[in-house]
Amino acid sequence: MSVVLETKHINKYFRKPVLFHVLKDVNFQIKKGEFASIMGKSGCGKSTLLYILSTMDTDYEGELFLNNQLITGQDRKHLSYLRNKHIGFVFQFHYLLSEFSVLENVMLPAKKLGEKSFQEIEHDAIEKLKMLNIEHLAKKRASRVSGGEKQRVAIARALINNPSIIMGDEPTGNLDSYNAENVFNIFKQLSEEKGLSLLVVTHDKDFANKTDRIIEMGDGRIIV
Ligand SMILES: Nc1ncnc2c1ncn2[C@@H]1O[C@H](COP(=O)(O)OP(=O)(O)OP(=O)(O)O)[C@@H](O)[C@H]1O
Ligand SMILES: [Mg+2]
Repeated sequence: MSVVLETKHINKYFRKPVLFHVLKDVNFQIKKGEFASIMGKSGCGKSTLLYILSTMDTDYEGELFLNNQLITGQDRKHLSYLRNKHIGFVFQFHYLLSEFSVLENVMLPAKKLGEKSFQEIEHDAIEKLKMLNIEHLAKKRASRVSGGEKQRVAIARALINNPSIIMGDEPTGNLDSYNAENVFNIFKQLSEEKGLSLLVVTHDKDFANKTDRIIEMGDGRIIV
């Protein structure tokens, strides 16, 4: 099975207010189609790690590979391109543009990537909305849909450029158990049927137990 994401000896320090070794020799791989969760106590470094994996934070030691390509050391502009093309994000808070329609929100990352025409992007966006059973919401303003629906819009948006991996930082943290299970089922289906890889930080043990693998973090290290 091919490797989608790999870290080699990642270390990170925060220098203010005092020198703090936040990530300690982090090594792991995520394979194609793998659905992994990251668990660990508050403050152990999960979000810090995800920020590096998502290519947003470049201030670390070690190496990061995406689809076997070395990401570490690439310039900002190329990182922004790689991130947009290969990585989808789903956060605890959806960060949808409330004044824009559901459809426009989903189309946005594809417009930014600039590889398809408006018509193609619109068609792709509608396909993603159909997949998530929210096609009927396409023309609604993002501020006018429910919390669970907003998170499905955020997933559709994360999928628009057909990424290799979806990363989530507590994507179900703000949802009730019904909607959390719904999001889990969508992720599961994407990994099983589309070979999408998923890496999801969660505090929800029930959610984590259902994933293919739990990566347990403690004090900046991967324990298992
Ligand atoms: N910009 C920063 N400067 C200094 N220290 C920071 C900074 N950001 C985070 N930290 C510290 O780094 C540690 C890891 O933070 P991080 O946000 O990665 O934790 P987390 O595992 O995501 O926690 P949670 O489960 O609460 O979201 C914490 O001790 C935090 O206080
Ligand atoms: Mg966090």
